[in-house]
Amino acid sequence: MISLETQYLGLTLSNPIIVSSSGLTNSAEKVVKLEKEGAGAVVLKSLFEEQIMAEASQTLSNTEGQYPEAIDYVQTYVRSQSLSQYLELIRDCKAKTNIPIIASINCFSAGEWTSFAKNIEEAGADAIELNVFTLNTGLHKSSEDYEQTYYQIVREVKKVVSIPIAVKLSFYFSNLIHVIDRLKAEGASSVVLFNRFYQPDIDINTLKVTAAEVFSVPSDQFQTLRWTSIASGLTKMEVSSSTGVHDYDAVLKMLLAGAQTVQMCSAIYQQGREVISQILTCIEEWMEQKDFASIEEFRGLMNYRAINDPSLYERNQFMKYYSSRE
Ligand SMILES: Cc1cc2nc3c(=O)[nH]c(=O)nc-3n(C[C@H](O)[C@H](O)[C@H](O)COP(=O)(O)O)c2cc1C
Repeated sequence: MISLETQYLGLTLSNPIIVSSSGLTNSAEKVVKLEKEGAGAVVLKSLFEEQIMAEASQTLSNTEGQYPEAIDYVQTYVRSQSLSQYLELIRDCKAKTNIPIIASINCFSAGEWTSFAKNIEEAGADAIELNVFTLNTGLHKSSEDYEQTYYQIVREVKKVVSIPIAVKLSFYFSNLIHVIDRLKAEGASSVVLFNRFYQPDIDINTLKVTAAEVFSVPSDQFQTLRWTSIASGLTKMEVSSSTGVHDYDAVLKMLLAGAQTVQMCSAIYQQGREVISQILTCIEEWMEQKDFASIEEFRGLMNYRAINDPSLYERNQFMKYYSSRE
């Protein structure tokens, strides 16, 4: 009997496929449908630090000429409205489904928003994913200065919640493995490798800055694969692999590289929710062929520590491949 059961963030999932934070998970109705297609868990759409602040300043611009007390009131009210809608989403999902519900906060500072995390826990979220991103452009700031923000955020959130914390990262670090290790020491239970960001583009006809393609492509998976393998081999942190996972081969590769879970977003937007159940069937068939009864039997079999020649994951240059290409 084949079992896809997976432990992640101390939670038991029926299988390792998690639907990433996005518009796919912004209502309980959608989450119910994702559960029906077999999603092991979902990460709800993010509550954005900027979104809350922008809403607050928008309302404030309509209150010019009012007393500071009134402005304070409006600011607090607007924040609590955004938050209450988000808390309602968590409660609704918990009431209507049985899969783990992971809340998500998109943040870039350890500011006052961290107190919201407590409300998220009280609303019933099983874990929190912190989508932290700072684009490091300060001429007089070091990488370490920026990294401190990530540690501070985890420290502050950890102070107010007891549910597990995952940190969704970008690959823009000088030494990602050190950062992951420090995040573990600060109390994070998992890292999500990687987030995919809005990319600016330039329209050469209108001479305007526009948005590039929002969806990933399957070839994006190889960066994810390399770092899943290295992080799972060299640190004690759980890894949830994200970006570029579009089919069952990619899910299996991430698990073989040591991922605890795999997150999917673009493929579900493009192929529909049914892709989840199709992938699960293919994984079971593959496990049957290979005679694996559980995911634990092959998780990490090909990670950085397990293979004979870890330099295969380190090689950066194309020397061998260039020389054979005329
Ligand atoms: C339309 C859309 C909305 C997204 N919204 C969020 C979000 O609110 N929070 C977040 O952490 N990531 C968000 N993401 C990023 C995804 O969660 C995911 O990390 C990224 O798309 C890479 O995974 P993929 O290759 O499976 O698409 C969004 C992605 C898309 C395409």
